[in-house]
Amino acid sequence: MTERVLYLMICGAGPASHVDVAIKLAQEAGWSVYCIATPSAVEHFLDLDELHQLTGHPARTGYKSQGQPSLPPADAVIVAPATYNTINKWAAGIADTYVLTQLAELTGLGVPIAVLPFVNTALANNAALYRSVEALRASGVRVLLGSGGFEPHPPRQGHRAVADYPWHSAINALS
Ligand SMILES: Cc1cc2nc3c(=O)[nH]c(=O)nc-3n(C[C@H](O)[C@H](O)[C@H](O)COP(=O)(O)O)c2cc1C
Repeated sequence: MTERVLYLMICGAGPASHVDVAIKLAQEAGWSVYCIATPSAVEHFLDLDELHQLTGHPARTGYKSQGQPSLPPADAVIVAPATYNTINKWAAGIADTYVLTQLAELTGLGVPIAVLPFVNTALANNAALYRSVEALRASGVRVLLGSGGFEPHPPRQGHRAVADYPWHSAINALS
């Protein structure tokens, strides 16, 4: 059977430390998972060797270096945890990380994309985020913010919200 390729784009917020949960759920749903991480996710939250072990593929943070295998084309994409920073930059057309460059192209190609934000209520109430979410939804991106997806937590309550982060809603959004 041909493998179904899922790009898991990981940004710099608390749930990134538990991305193994998403990898296992996606694999159980039949996806072959390729992790792509922002520099902030790598600096603060991720162990790239562990991601390699879990997925069987090297995690990417930039364009491939010579000798590295190319990524297979994506059948679907999950952006989780999606930060305030990446959501706003993506919607504004900025492409200054490998994750953002890939998202710009994948959105234009019409590949199914599910976004699971992780923002507190202070960031969620910001008009910039509202505008970005509307713009991405208008481009066909599934932004799982609100009921049935991620519900923002009060500031300084992030550690509790990490435990309840609804990874499964992103996987389910693609099936
Ligand atoms: C410990 C820590 C926790 C953070 N938590 C969040 C968060 O919950 N949501 C968020 O949007 N940004 C959070 N940030 C800030 C982002 O990491 C920061 O905006 C960064 O520029 C995001 O880069 P990226 O979008 O390329 O991953 C956190 C940063 C650190 C160091």
